[in-house]
Amino acid sequence: MSFIPNFLKSFLPTSPYLGIDIGTTSIKIVELDEKNGKIFLKNYGILESFGHLARLNNAIQTSGLKIVEKEAAQLLKTLLERMNIRGGQAIASIPSFFGFISVLEVPKMNPNELAEAMRYQAKFLVPLPAADISVDWSVVGEYEDEKGFKKQQVLLTSIPNDQIKKYQTIFKMSGLSLKMVEIEAVSLARILTMDDSQNSLIVDIGGRSTVLAVAQNGRLKYSNQMDLAANLLTQAIANGLDLNTKRAEELKRQRGLGGIGGEYQLSTLMFTYLDVILNEVERIKNTYEKTYYGKIEKVILSGGGANLIGIEKYTADYLKLPVFKADPFSRISLPEGLSPIGKDIAAPLSVALGLAAKQFISI
Ligand SMILES: Nc1ncnc2c1ncn2[C@@H]1O[C@H](COP(=O)(O)OP(=O)(O)OP(=O)(O)O)[C@@H](O)[C@H]1O
Ligand SMILES: [Mg+2]
Repeated sequence: MSFIPNFLKSFLPTSPYLGIDIGTTSIKIVELDEKNGKIFLKNYGILESFGHLARLNNAIQTSGLKIVEKEAAQLLKTLLERMNIRGGQAIASIPSFFGFISVLEVPKMNPNELAEAMRYQAKFLVPLPAADISVDWSVVGEYEDEKGFKKQQVLLTSIPNDQIKKYQTIFKMSGLSLKMVEIEAVSLARILTMDDSQNSLIVDIGGRSTVLAVAQNGRLKYSNQMDLAANLLTQAIANGLDLNTKRAEELKRQRGLGGIGGEYQLSTLMFTYLDVILNEVERIKNTYEKTYYGKIEKVILSGGGANLIGIEKYTADYLKLPVFKADPFSRISLPEGLSPIGKDIAAPLSVALGLAAKQFISI
């Protein structure tokens, strides 16, 4: 288990909500505040659990609709203690594999009619009774069809209530009160594309899952996810070089892609799996472009996997698109002296920053 603490001074008596991202391999917390119209970072913490690498079943979250509540609560408590936070209110992200996200095309209608239509549609899209899900929606596009009828594209998100309850339990056990939950793709869209009118494909490469989110002007327009992510690269090194996963993880982080001689061998082990991930990214990108008639103009890499040395260039060559590393701190000020650390923590903190930013901006 490792911990990257950072204690920043708090000048304000009241605390805004904490943004908390419980991933499959780590927990991230950020505390933001606003002064003179500027959002700034007050405090953050990252707790990585390396148990998942030694024993795959030991992940904090698993996509098998299971979350190890007790363990997650314990880790959350540990991180809060180290950040010197006692109690408080939180906004948490729900992994994309727990939520249901769809884009629907419906005739243009007033907000009340739309609300009714969305509740009705959710019944067909989610394999759970209506009483068991929480539904939310937002209009993400408008157009006129061939016959001149006004249509709108609506993003419908649903979260099973029992998932929200599980989160409430975890947070309560950790001494926090959970005020809001949001699917992580929505938080990523907010923090990585607000003020950006280009149609971007965000690829958040986590430990166990990769989230894809098409977004523009801070709004999510389409999302998908896959159970292929950066831990695969560690496994490839461990198997290929007959190393334990901890050593393989170290090598992956130190060397990254590229290099010559022995280092090149290391990258070739990773290329095979990276290609599998990127092939799927390309397939989803093509599906989006064909179905929703929107061209993807660039790719933004986020999550811990975006820190892999050389991944931007490799991805740009593979997808033949401009590729950028997530820069959530372009919208959030860092206290003086913290900027150099910002580089490494930026991409993995994107979800937590997007959550916490929700209370200061209207997207
Ligand atoms: N410097 C680095 N170079 C290469 N890979 C890295 C680096 N830092 C972190 N990673 C990888 O990023 C992954 C963890 O990313 P992240 O913290 O976004 O995951 P998570 O949010 O816990 O998981 P998930 O999103 O799947 O639930 C791990 O596979 C880790 O090895
Ligand atoms: Mg994550």
